Amino acid sequence: GVCAPATATFSIRINAGRSPDCVLPAMFDADPQFRADVLSGLAGPRRAIPARWFYDERGSELFDEITRLPEYYPTRTETALLAQCRADVAQRVGPGTAVIEFGAGSATKTPLLLEAVAPAAYVPIDISGDYLRDAAAALQVNFPLLSVIPIEADFTEAMTLPATVDDMPRLGFFPGSTIGNFIPRSAVNFLRHIRDVLGEGAQLLIGFDRIKPVDILIAAYDDAAGVTAAFNLNLLERINRELDGNIPVNAFAHRAVWNDAEARIEMHLEALQDISFEVAGQRFNMAAGETIHTENSHKYDLRGLRLLLRAGGWTPVVDYSDAGDWFTLVLAQAAPYHRAP
Ligand code: AVI
Repeated sequence: GVCAPATATFSIRINAGRSPDCVLPAMFDADPQFRADVLSGLAGPRRAIPARWFYDERGSELFDEITRLPEYYPTRTETALLAQCRADVAQRVGPGTAVIEFGAGSATKTPLLLEAVAPAAYVPIDISGDYLRDAAAALQVNFPLLSVIPIEADFTEAMTLPATVDDMPRLGFFPGSTIGNFIPRSAVNFLRHIRDVLGEGAQLLIGFDRIKPVDILIAAYDDAAGVTAAFNLNLLERINRELDGNIPVNAFAHRAVWNDAEARIEMHLEALQDISFEVAGQRFNMAAGETIHTENSHKYDLRGLRLLLRAGGWTPVVDYSDAGDWFTLVLAQAAPYHRAP
């Protein structure tokens, strides 16, 4: 799969960032998990690197740019949908909840939800500490009375919620159809994991990108301005930067393909000629036409997304879709652990 399944490792990291005056050669500075994923992922015969490694600083900037592209409909469609359904969500959820967001939060979507729901606490969880703290501080300015408690953690791994939210009802928030970047087995693991983290009685507001005509899907992942191509190719630049690589980035092309059997867009990096390069002292050879698979983005129909939620321990309560059925937000309820068939 492209994304690591939930594991039981404790991983809240506080101040894990290096001090800026600690200058080390690239090889030693690199995240050992990044190195391991890249070296095993390049080894073939089906080369693949997990999509989570797109998001270094440059990658996060490029993703931000993607969300504003005319072809990339998910962000604006979900934002408009949230603006429409938030009053109903707020009424079902009630005041005084703790909103737990998996990801640092979007500058537009998160305020829309918080304004409507009027929670007692907001807990964004993200692996990138700097980005998380900036986003949390910016949000706090507009919500001065809200208790904002950022947690720096990999949200697919074990975590403990802050004691402040112990007695509050919980609302999980997982927008963007980020669930679609997990293969189904990992998506189910992840949903079960957040159900465990949020606990009995919790609710979840989660976004799903819908199956739609292939030309629209392809355009969203292969935009005319080439931003998605740059986002995909940045992974190779990152490998060169952080893992002492000499990959000829110009010898690769961005590919976005629809895999109908799996109902997903796949992103690949295709070698345009026979190439040979080194990463972290190891040599790799690729023939022209071979690809490195870098991302899956699954798309759903209503039955499929409901089934996925149920498999993950969540009972769908209500769903909201735009007029074109391009995107769906679902409010779900944590399923009890024991239930007769
Ligand atoms: C973050 N995630 C939901 C995006 C998606 O659409 O799968 C990542 C992305 N990849 C290319 N464009 C956007």
